[in-house]
Amino acid sequence: MSKTPSESNTWSGRFSEPVDDLVKTYTASVSFDYRLAQFDIEGSLAHARMLAQQGIISLKDLNDIEQGLQNISEEINEGRFKWNIDLEDVHLNIEKRLTELVGDAGKRLHTGRSRNDQVATDIRLYLRQATDDILGLLAGLQNALLDKAEEHIHTLMPGFTHLQVAQPVSFAHHLMAYFEMFDRDWNRLTDGRKRINRLPLGAAALAGSGYPINRDKVAKDLGFSGLCENSLDAVSDRDFAIEFTAAAALIMMHLSRLSEEIILWMNPQFGFVDLPDRFCTGSSIMPQKKNPDVPELVRGKSGRIYGNLFCLLTLMKGQPLAYNKDNQEDKEPLFDTVDTLTTTLRLYCDLIQNIQARPERMLEALNQGFATATDLADYLVMKGVPFRDAHEAVARAVREAEKRNCDLSQLDINLLKSFHQEIEPGVYDILTPQGSIQTRTLKGGTAPATVKQAILTARERLIRRPDQG
Ligand code: ARG
Repeated sequence: MSKTPSESNTWSGRFSEPVDDLVKTYTASVSFDYRLAQFDIEGSLAHARMLAQQGIISLKDLNDIEQGLQNISEEINEGRFKWNIDLEDVHLNIEKRLTELVGDAGKRLHTGRSRNDQVATDIRLYLRQATDDILGLLAGLQNALLDKAEEHIHTLMPGFTHLQVAQPVSFAHHLMAYFEMFDRDWNRLTDGRKRINRLPLGAAALAGSGYPINRDKVAKDLGFSGLCENSLDAVSDRDFAIEFTAAAALIMMHLSRLSEEIILWMNPQFGFVDLPDRFCTGSSIMPQKKNPDVPELVRGKSGRIYGNLFCLLTLMKGQPLAYNKDNQEDKEPLFDTVDTLTTTLRLYCDLIQNIQARPERMLEALNQGFATATDLADYLVMKGVPFRDAHEAVARAVREAEKRNCDLSQLDINLLKSFHQEIEPGVYDILTPQGSIQTRTLKGGTAPATVKQAILTARERLIRRPDQG
């Protein structure tokens, strides 16, 4: 960032002394909002084309502006552009350079526009792009979950409640639970995109413009699906950014849950899964360690996104209409949210594609928790035993198995019969985890055929998703 002395500020005519240096640094945003440059140029081009079409600037001016902005875009992409903190933000930096390059035409670009509607437009263009990128990454993660689930329709693991072994489920079924969470996340982002995708330009500083500008043309040009209907609202509210960050916070929350499970599963006491070494680190002192760093950091980074959400909510709270400088503070939390989420999703897709299940360890854990006790109770109920009596009989059987340090399915038939005379040899079909999951055939259940169908339907849902744009 070059710090050349300011020759004359954009508003210098009004002021009798230069801005204090510390104030300048405090109020400038170019050190971070330079990231909006590409969108700022896109918005300016659409605005200029409209001004020319409406006869507010000449075609010659439009030509100069287009040429100048094209050069600036190249300068920025090639790292040659000199950002100047004296020019406060990305908008004034670009406008000043444009005027250097093409003279008066550059000075005419800002006709009928204010930085207030300009920045609101830039941030919406940025967020629309970010939303589309993230939707793509989410879909990638969902596909990875489906592929992994498909491999494990018959892989049995304990399902937990209170982190205690509860009932057998398939690993596929467990993964599909996350598919559903990310599906809702996808829908949330898609829904929020509709509210991002509206054009603020034309609101000018706050009251709208007196020039005969054509907002609809600009909206169409920039791919917005409509206009912000009230000029005061257009330049001031950032609810669409808050909504985006809330959706991001939910995605991170879901990823954090999955991460916590992967961390547990990687603990040798569980040993349910293994991750390729590239997702882990060792310890500088304990040679045996293989630490699940990536899932741990995902869990940890959810905190920054929650923080960003709170930052934006607090930033907006109590702001009177219309634009206030407070809003300049929306960018860093938003950029951080997009950056963190994007990298996290990119890593996670790879991680899910390459996670290694260890079915033998899952089964071992399953055989230790009396996971089919409910099945035994259900078996008795089907034979006409009242549920409470069945529950009591099974509880006694569990106590006995515990004493003998074996699973329910290892108790012989005579012993089982001693807990309830309705128990017959066919009981072993449901006492094994395989038998148990076979019975869960209702929609949403863990039976292999049901999960297979769920995966199929899920794939179709992904394919049938509407195009953005
Ligand atoms: N850098 C400012 C922002 O990010 C641009 C808008 C400035 N408008 C103003 N009236 N000072 O919000």
